[in-house]
Amino acid sequence: MKAEEKKILYTFFRTASECLSGFKTGEEYPDFRDDSIDDSVSVNPESGSPAIADTFLSDTDRPDALKNPLPDSESGFESLEKVYAQIASCKACRLCERRHNTVAGEGPREFSNAEGKIDVMVIGEGPGADEDAQGRPFVGKAGQLLDKMLAAIELYRTHNCYITNVVKCRPPNNRDPLPDETAACRNYLNAQIALIRPKAILVVGRVALQNLLETQEGIGKMHGKFFEYQKIPLMATYHPSALLRDVNLKRPAWEDLKLFRARLNELLEKN
Ligand code: URA
Repeated sequence: MKAEEKKILYTFFRTASECLSGFKTGEEYPDFRDDSIDDSVSVNPESGSPAIADTFLSDTDRPDALKNPLPDSESGFESLEKVYAQIASCKACRLCERRHNTVAGEGPREFSNAEGKIDVMVIGEGPGADEDAQGRPFVGKAGQLLDKMLAAIELYRTHNCYITNVVKCRPPNNRDPLPDETAACRNYLNAQIALIRPKAILVVGRVALQNLLETQEGIGKMHGKFFEYQKIPLMATYHPSALLRDVNLKRPAWEDLKLFRARLNELLEKN
């Protein structure tokens, strides 16, 4: 095993353990060395770094070249249909044990090559009870509000918008997905983004935001600002469930949505 691979595994297990225990060790990293047998992992042809690093490296460890992971050739999937098929039988983490259905995503052209045809990808946290029961994203109360929020800026899952989540199986009691669960699902999300290539990404809620941007900053600070993921403009706003709990968030969310629409219009004009 290479030193880099050891470091990736070490980082992954350490992050998971810190997350579960709520305690950061702050210890220095061990000095990893290459083993003599060459069993190297696949290499990103652009960055020359191991592809597995796209999933597991923490932000400070990530070489700049990996911060926007996975060009589409590397997602390993030829079509959304293949992504869906693999999600349907996925057993990569414990969330498979209690699910009733996987929830891959939903948009106007689920099973064909959607590249260039969908303007926006909306990314949420993970399926809740209704979504788990139906196998469709955002179909409960929060989903109904999300549809209204999107319609207010002329986005529709039936027409120009694709909706998915960071994890494709329901976390028990709607708890936040754990780092190893989001890591296990990341390749599916990356493949969906790479195959669809939306003009812009709208992230709803803290969990998806922190996961995609690998930040600890809260949604209160990060909403309404533009970032990039896979070189696609990305903005986060409040999760519709947060708006259901606190109506005072509706106004800032609306301001975010207007900004998002204005930027999307600019991006559409360019093409
Ligand atoms: N909340 C989410 O984040 N995603 C869903 O699909 C439903 C509720």
